[in-house]
Amino acid sequence: MSRAYAPSAELRLIEHVAKLADEHPPIRFDSVDFTVRNPREFDTRFGHVLDYMARVELEVDRNILELTTMLPDPPEVDQQFYAVWQPQEIQHGLILDRLQVELGRESVDADLDSIGLKLKILGALAHIGPFQDVCRMLYYLTGMATERSAVLAYNLLHRGTLEMGERAIADSVIGRIKRQEPGHFVFYQLSARALWAELAAWQRWMVRFMRKASFAPVGANNPQQKADFGDVMATLGIAGELDDFAVQVARVEKELLWERDRGLKVPVYVSRAFHEAVELARDRAHVPHLHR
Ligand SMILES: [Fe+2]
Ligand SMILES: [Fe+2]
Repeated sequence: MSRAYAPSAELRLIEHVAKLADEHPPIRFDSVDFTVRNPREFDTRFGHVLDYMARVELEVDRNILELTTMLPDPPEVDQQFYAVWQPQEIQHGLILDRLQVELGRESVDADLDSIGLKLKILGALAHIGPFQDVCRMLYYLTGMATERSAVLAYNLLHRGTLEMGERAIADSVIGRIKRQEPGHFVFYQLSARALWAELAAWQRWMVRFMRKASFAPVGANNPQQKADFGDVMATLGIAGELDDFAVQVARVEKELLWERDRGLKVPVYVSRAFHEAVELARDRAHVPHLHR
C-alpha cells in the first residue's frame, strides 16, 4: 500500500483535479482553426518543434503504461488525475500532429508501447511497498519537469507564432494547449511536496540517487531524440539561455531534494542533460543555422 498524504494535502489535490476536469475539457477537434497563412515559412521555422511536441504529447499513452508497471497500487486521486489528464494530452498531440500534416509534413512516429528494462525492474521492485513510494516520487519529479518544460516551450512557441502573423494557429491551437499545461504542473508539484514530506531518510536518499542516474529532458530517450530536443531549444531561443531554463524546470526539485546545498542554483544532472542535448544537435547539424 502506498503511503497516505496529510489530510489537508490530499484535500487540496482532490479539489485541484476536480477543477481541472471542470475548467479544462479536452479541446475538441472540430473547434480548432487550422488556417496557416504561410505554411512554407511556418514549417521551416516551427515544423520540427510541432513534431517533437506532438510526439511527447501522444506518448502519454506509454506513460500510462509505464505508470501501471511502476505503480501497481496508485492512490485514488492519482487515478482521477490520469482520467482527466490523459484525454487532454492526447488531444494536444492529435491537434499538433494534424497541424504538421497540414503543413505537408509526415505524421508523428510516437512510441506508444515499449517499456524499457529499467522500468520493468522498477516495476518489479515497486511491488515492495516502501519502494513504491520511491518510484512514485520519481514519477512526480519527472511529471513536474515535463509539464514545466511544456509550459515554457508553449509560451515561446505562442510568441513566435504571433510574431509570424499566424493568428489562427496562435489563438486556436497553441494558445489553447498552453492554457492546459500549468494545471498539470500544479498537480505534480502538490503531489511531490506532499509525498516528500512523508518519505523516510533512506527513501529520500534513494530518490536522489536514482534521479541523478536517470534524469533526461522531456521526450529525449536516446541520442537522436536528445539532438531533436537540442534543435527545439535552439528554435525556441532557449539554447542561448540554457542555465535559466534549467533553473526554471528544476526549481521545486532543487528545493525538495537538494535543500541542503544552499549555493546550488540547479542540480548538475539537469543542466548537464540540457547542455548535452544542445551539443548533440550542434554536432549532428541537421539544421546548422539554428546553432550558429
Ligand atoms: Fe500537453
Ligand atoms: Fe501536460
